[in-house]
Amino acid sequence: MHFSSIVAASLALASSTVAAPHSNKGKDKPTSLYKAFRESGRSYIGTAWTMRANETAEPKIIKQDFNSITPENAQKWESTEPSRNNFTFEDSDRYVEYAKKHSLQIRCHNLVWHSQLPAWVTDGKFDNHTLISIMENHIKNLAGRYRKDCTQWDVVNEALNEDGTYRESVWYTTIGEAYLPIAFKLAAKYSKAKLFYNDYNIESNNAKTAGAARIVKLIKSYGVRIDGVGYQAHLASETTPTSGGPLPSQKVLEAALHATADLGVDVAYTEIDIRMNTPATPAKLAVQAEAYKTVAKSCLAVKRCIGMTVWGISDKYSWIPGVFAGEGAALLFDEDYNKKPAYYGFLAGLKK
Ligand code: G3I
Repeated sequence: MHFSSIVAASLALASSTVAAPHSNKGKDKPTSLYKAFRESGRSYIGTAWTMRANETAEPKIIKQDFNSITPENAQKWESTEPSRNNFTFEDSDRYVEYAKKHSLQIRCHNLVWHSQLPAWVTDGKFDNHTLISIMENHIKNLAGRYRKDCTQWDVVNEALNEDGTYRESVWYTTIGEAYLPIAFKLAAKYSKAKLFYNDYNIESNNAKTAGAARIVKLIKSYGVRIDGVGYQAHLASETTPTSGGPLPSQKVLEAALHATADLGVDVAYTEIDIRMNTPATPAKLAVQAEAYKTVAKSCLAVKRCIGMTVWGISDKYSWIPGVFAGEGAALLFDEDYNKKPAYYGFLAGLKK
């Protein structure tokens, strides 16, 4: 080959290799769940988190994909007030400090719940007046400590039975339904956060969804602030022994969100995981990816759906297999922190 044609050929090769990234623009861009959702005009994509010193992949994934965290257990009553008026905030403080340091939003979880509630509260046989003062002291100390730090608070968690009636918790049996507006009034007194009612199995526009709408109206009827409803979204991509069936359609998911959003509050998916019968197969993972996409699209279709939180990063630590034997593989990253098809399905769904 003549020298000049060698030069010409190598120049052509060089220019084609240099040009390639430009012609591929967009394709090679690093993906980020929260950045994509923000480009769609929404606020955040979050994850529940339990800090584990040995899992160094997690902070990196959070930095890349999430702009919000929810402490998975650290702020619950048993963790923060294990005995009366004895507050232990060390664990909770780590999450709040982390969020502040890394400019993350923080969905604080939760103030008033029947579960992970210490026996001194559930079995204390307190009268109405005393139980309200115990609630106030807890909210004052916990929500007050993070007055300006929490972006959102789950003020009351899981107050409903499946048929939409009130769960017979110590709060309800002692105080009656007034415990809900009372809790929100106290949260508004001690916190600047957006105040949420949060529950599961309200994503399919059923009797329980109607119960959540009733709670929004009840709280507003007292002239008390409620800013949002959290749809936990512990869902399944196929029928499993513990799921009512496969995923609700996008239309049904949207209708469920509208059931409360149309009352003038924000809505959010707060604890998303989409489980299957294990072991996972490529076919099941593909169905799960579609399910994640559908959930994301339903949020994007509803103006007041401000954000979405998945309930954990990796399948390695999900609560599901320990509670629902034979089910799991519900999150976006596998046990080795590799992105699953679900990750790409979710990402596709939250892009406009
Ligand atoms: O910290 C103790 C440890 O000291 C002890 O040795 C060990 C032995 O069982 O238990 C540890 O506590 C566990 C705790 O998680 C912290 O890891 C509890 O047993 C376990 O029951 C608890 O599970 C949590 C569950 O809430 C409790 O209800 C899950 O991690 C958490 O993901 C789950 O999250 C809930 C939301 O808050 C509300 N909505 C439903 C969702 C899923 O259940």
